[in-house]
Amino acid sequence: MEEQTFSQKIIQWYQAHYRDLPWRHTLDPYRIWLSEVILQQTRVAQGLPYYNRFIEAFPTVYDVANASEQEVLRLWQGLGYYSRARNLHACAKTIVANYDGKFPESYRELIKLKGVGAYTAAAIASFAFNETVPVVDGNVYRVLSRVFGIKDDILSTSGQKKFRQVADQLVPDGKANVYNQAIMEFGALQCTPATPACLLCPVVDTCYAYQHGKQKELPVKIKKTKIKHRYLHYLVVKTDGRLLMRQRQGKDIWTGLYDFYLIETSQPQDWEQLEDPFLAELLQQSPTVEKSRKYQHQLSHQQLHVIFYTLTLPNNVAQESSSLPGQFYSADEVEQLPKPILIDNFLREGPSRTEYFSKLL
Ligand code: ADE
Repeated sequence: MEEQTFSQKIIQWYQAHYRDLPWRHTLDPYRIWLSEVILQQTRVAQGLPYYNRFIEAFPTVYDVANASEQEVLRLWQGLGYYSRARNLHACAKTIVANYDGKFPESYRELIKLKGVGAYTAAAIASFAFNETVPVVDGNVYRVLSRVFGIKDDILSTSGQKKFRQVADQLVPDGKANVYNQAIMEFGALQCTPATPACLLCPVVDTCYAYQHGKQKELPVKIKKTKIKHRYLHYLVVKTDGRLLMRQRQGKDIWTGLYDFYLIETSQPQDWEQLEDPFLAELLQQSPTVEKSRKYQHQLSHQQLHVIFYTLTLPNNVAQESSSLPGQFYSADEVEQLPKPILIDNFLREGPSRTEYFSKLL
């Protein structure tokens, strides 16, 4: 018998071990696209409920296109990297407006869509249309680097090119759909980052990393990014049970989501040292002030150090001033707004972990 190729072995492994996941039962490019955009952001276990909620709210691409950006962001809440959700919404609108609601059927056309990069285009083209293109995600980098001993940095341009060349050779014609699912699943379940199950591995005989004991060193990922520290002092202005919130604009983190009035400093600062015209105005209205605990929030390249100051104003203070930095929302309305998870956590925790310090003012 002719020796089985790497791809055949991986497919055979997949057929015995795959997880039964909803997007594996469909050829609908909309569902495949949605699942892949979510799964770029998170693991299967966390992504699954998001996928199900999206499909329930938006069974077709038309439903996403007709929704408001706010609805899409609210469903995405907690996944992070909110530009993905905004791109998802924009892409759905394009599909409806320019493609008659039908996804293009080739990698070349798919990659032109907003937010659709090489990975997503390859995933849709292969899973929905069985085009012979490789998907290359984190799982695939890990498997290929270990099995074939590829030591290039997976974050470098030259490394990515090398991996793509190897991946190109491996996709079997006519079986790209199952092979691509298989290699990702193999990376997720068998050839895992910390403790790969080498003793039960179908390609262990020819695996470079196993033969050389280099599982821990591969793949090579050279991190160059420096973490930036930011110090956020939120003013949570409360009156009559309502909260002052505003939608974030611009190119910073969390665009489109709602948070509170923000004073940011480049160094840690105490309450007494905060200088801000709106804060000065608020203090003239004799609010009580509660200070929250310190929250730490890690983003991919930023470490946020956050304190919330809840300023409760007397109920008779005017709330509709046009100069207000935002708008007052009732508790029910606040619940419906798309918010960064940090804000959501603070709201859920409530004042129980805050210390009153109005007397200190
Ligand atoms: N991660 C990315 N895409 C995936 C898929 N289709 N199935 C399981 N995990 C994945």
